[in-house]
Amino acid sequence: MSTYTLDTATSRATPTPAPMKRLTVPKLQAMKGGTPIVMLTAYTARMAQLLDPHCDLLLVGDSLGQVIYGLPSTIPVTLDMMCAHGAAVVRGSWHAVVAVDMPFGSYEQSPEQAFANASRVLKETGAAAVKLEGGEAMAETTAFLVRRGIPVIGHVGLTPQAVNVLGGYRARGRDEAEASKIIADARAVAEAGCFALVLEGVMEEIAVEITRAVSCPTIGIGASAACDGQVLVTEDMLGVFERTPRFVKRYDDLAARIGDAVATYASEVRSRAFPTEDQIYRPK
Ligand code: KIV
Repeated sequence: MSTYTLDTATSRATPTPAPMKRLTVPKLQAMKGGTPIVMLTAYTARMAQLLDPHCDLLLVGDSLGQVIYGLPSTIPVTLDMMCAHGAAVVRGSWHAVVAVDMPFGSYEQSPEQAFANASRVLKETGAAAVKLEGGEAMAETTAFLVRRGIPVIGHVGLTPQAVNVLGGYRARGRDEAEASKIIADARAVAEAGCFALVLEGVMEEIAVEITRAVSCPTIGIGASAACDGQVLVTEDMLGVFERTPRFVKRYDDLAARIGDAVATYASEVRSRAFPTEDQIYRPK
């Protein structure tokens, strides 16, 4: 039973409940091998309010580049964008751990660069953790951050920030060499201390093997039901986009429903059927 009341009645309400009782990083770590971790992306306060009661982890993914900003990839996403959306998601949630993606160029140069920028993210957003893409190359940075108090989620397999090196978004690990590299990447960041590990777009067997091999929970997206949790981009699973990638299950068809609602609104405005007596003000 909740010990607080959330005011989500209108767009002008103050939604922050008190006291807040969030899950913690150690509690999530302890979910390895137990009930699967539920994770979704969130970029705005209102979406966070709707997702939070059902999720263990909310990821402010750099996928906001495409989903919110209409950018061609995650490469142009900035630290300012991640901080603004991270803070909104923290304000809109009270239960889930919030993790923020470190955008391309904000952490790869050195562990020191990563610490400066990740600490800014935690200070400005109130989030509990950051996520970094990359395997062996990011192991030293991951250890550097964790030793200095910044919880890290790793991300291996298909890493969208490397799209220009990978040449596209196809699933990884189809041949022996690629599979061994992904497994080595996963082991490296897990041993460096990440508290959870996203496995994106990899062959099933690789996800199963990594999940057995590492001590932190694995969170799959296009990976395997055997992972310790699952994540999807919320707008994909709600059907906001027309195309459904193979790894996504659509739980709704919001694009069609929004289109229908807006078409009705447009037609009622044009015919003066809206507003009616119910929506206008008159002196008493
Ligand atoms: O940016 C993102 O949304 C992600 C998830 C797809 C894991 O990294």
